[in-house]
Amino acid sequence: MVSRVIPVDVFDLVIFGGTGDLARRKILPGLYRRFLAAQMPAESRIIGAARAELTDQEYRDQVRAAIAEFVPADRQDPAAIEGFLARLHYVAIDATGANGWAQLKALMRENVVRAFYFSVAPSLFGDIAQRLSDHGIADAWSRVVVEKPFGRDLASARALNACLARHFNETQIYRIDHYLGKETVQNLMAVRFANILFEPLWKAEYIDHVQITVAETVGVEGRGAYYDKSGAMRDMVQNHLMQLLCLIAMEPPYHFDPDAVRDEKLKVIRALKPVPPEDIVRGQYGPGNGEAGYLAHAENPNSRTESYIALKVQISNWRWQGVPFYLRTGKRLRARASEIAITFKPPPHAIFDDASGWHENVLVIRLQPNEGMNLMVMIKEPGPGGMRLMQVPLDMSFAEALGAEAADVPDAYERLIMDVIRGNQTLFMRGDEVEAAWAWTDPIIEGWEARGDRPQIYDPGSSGPEDALMLMHRDGRRWREIR
Ligand code: BG6
Repeated sequence: MVSRVIPVDVFDLVIFGGTGDLARRKILPGLYRRFLAAQMPAESRIIGAARAELTDQEYRDQVRAAIAEFVPADRQDPAAIEGFLARLHYVAIDATGANGWAQLKALMRENVVRAFYFSVAPSLFGDIAQRLSDHGIADAWSRVVVEKPFGRDLASARALNACLARHFNETQIYRIDHYLGKETVQNLMAVRFANILFEPLWKAEYIDHVQITVAETVGVEGRGAYYDKSGAMRDMVQNHLMQLLCLIAMEPPYHFDPDAVRDEKLKVIRALKPVPPEDIVRGQYGPGNGEAGYLAHAENPNSRTESYIALKVQISNWRWQGVPFYLRTGKRLRARASEIAITFKPPPHAIFDDASGWHENVLVIRLQPNEGMNLMVMIKEPGPGGMRLMQVPLDMSFAEALGAEAADVPDAYERLIMDVIRGNQTLFMRGDEVEAAWAWTDPIIEGWEARGDRPQIYDPGSSGPEDALMLMHRDGRRWREIR
């Protein structure tokens, strides 16, 4: 299979927060990889903007170190690195003051794509947007990229949307949810809408339930100050798991077009039922395995913030009437494993006498690691002895099926930044989508805060709190093993 890299238009990309953690870990290494793949035209430029007083050379040295740290060794090509660094510039800028804006304006070129990446705290979005307009740096063709967290509730998300809308049209705003940039997440749409096989079965009549799991082995460590005000519901469910749920549950859009796709996702979010307290389990990892527990990193030693959450979610529309979607995500769990498992109902009538070996059909879409799909089907157990049934996987590992090409897929950030330059918003969240997601999330959080619920402590390296098992058991179902 031949890799097809289509170069994007020449651009000037300004990264506010250009010396920050996200820029060092993800944005700049990602851009280097696109440069290496010849997708970033050589005349394009990246302008780091931050408070520190640095020369271009000092900034390039910082980025060289970031590439050395965050790009795999086999992708570090000294000539390409120098070529990439030569595209970098730096402006010391005061997001809330006057310093640096005239210099930034002087650096920008006419007739190239202008993109502004707000890799800064959301509290600075308004100040930066205002100054970009006041100084005539952003025009009607410019794009702005904003990171999560996009608000911490509906009111703050609305305020952020309103603040960006004062200076930019919705078609200029790219709200990143990096899960949408993951190869397998996009594959969900290809699997559903480019095959006839699954769609006829994709409904309450044939599907028993859906499980969405995003399990991590990392804890909160150095991010305690942010995380403690957020928790798994705000950090993961309101955005990443919600997007996965939408891609599984949405109706086929009329075209693979940004608004057509986002309209369908929005309908799913609006159809989500409120979640009663008995359908929510929150957990917090305790100390163990020689490591400190969540509270050691939290700002508040009595923190009630959840590092794990499991929810039973229902969608009130025709397609999904009565089909539970079980969502769970947590830190310090047994394994890093993200997957979506769709469990089908049994055949309407059993014709085999010995049904002891019978299991449901399950379609497992593995997002990470070991991306692939697995369809569990029933066959006859080989050999004599009558008709005995057994379950086997029809296994498709993308790495095996696609070979070297699968190993070289761009990471989520690389792809999303190139989409910004191309002006394709399909994989970005629209303002109304984010607000709808918060409108569903807010009452859930307000509910446990009002009740004063405490998360259940779970052992690090486990599958999460005991009560999460009960959430499924009481419905006669089981979570899939995290591995
Ligand atoms: C981020 C969350 O958005 O996603 C983190 O803030 C989480 O808490 C991360 O660890 C998970 O992303 P990935 O790509 O490693 O699954």
